[in-house]
Amino acid sequence: MAKIQILIGSVYGAAEQVAEIAAETLRDEGHEVSLNTYARAEDLVRDTNEVLLLCHSNTGSGELPDNIQPIYLHITRDYPRIAGKRYGVINLADSSYSTFNEAGRLLDAAFADLGAVRIGEPLIIDACVGDDADAMTREWISQWAQQL
Ligand SMILES: Cc1cc2nc3c(=O)[nH]c(=O)nc-3n(C[C@H](O)[C@H](O)[C@H](O)COP(=O)(O)O)c2cc1C
Repeated sequence: MAKIQILIGSVYGAAEQVAEIAAETLRDEGHEVSLNTYARAEDLVRDTNEVLLLCHSNTGSGELPDNIQPIYLHITRDYPRIAGKRYGVINLADSSYSTFNEAGRLLDAAFADLGAVRIGEPLIIDACVGDDADAMTREWISQWAQQL
């Protein structure tokens, strides 16, 4: 069973709710899960065996929510030693924006640039087409966890 830290970035709470559903499903499957709404630099490297799950929305014009922005700045300015670190991605976005999921792609690329290893394809939940966030998350997270 895996140890998983979910890093949350949310403005109005939708991504936080998705993170809670993901956590509940993972715990039901026997994983050890912590939720982090205000992740800071040290949280990325607090446990070498821990898998990270980035669960955040997009805001502004393709920007990250304020509560996960410090992680992006830390990665792109300080180059922490996260090579080999396993992570997954859940993005909440809206395809009516020309900046559809731009922040999601930026943070994912920042992790990959430092050699972190993404597990599976990102789950992109599109508010514009009325995606059922709860159902999509439950289905995706089980498949994701099987790849750990
Ligand atoms: C002011 C505002 C700006 C947004 N900007 C973007 C954007 O640039 N790109 C995108 O894909 N989605 C964008 N969205 C859509 C949100 O990411 C989506 O509604 C998400 O479900 C919000 O989750 P949250 O409540 O966790 O913040 C925006 C939403 C709002 C309200």
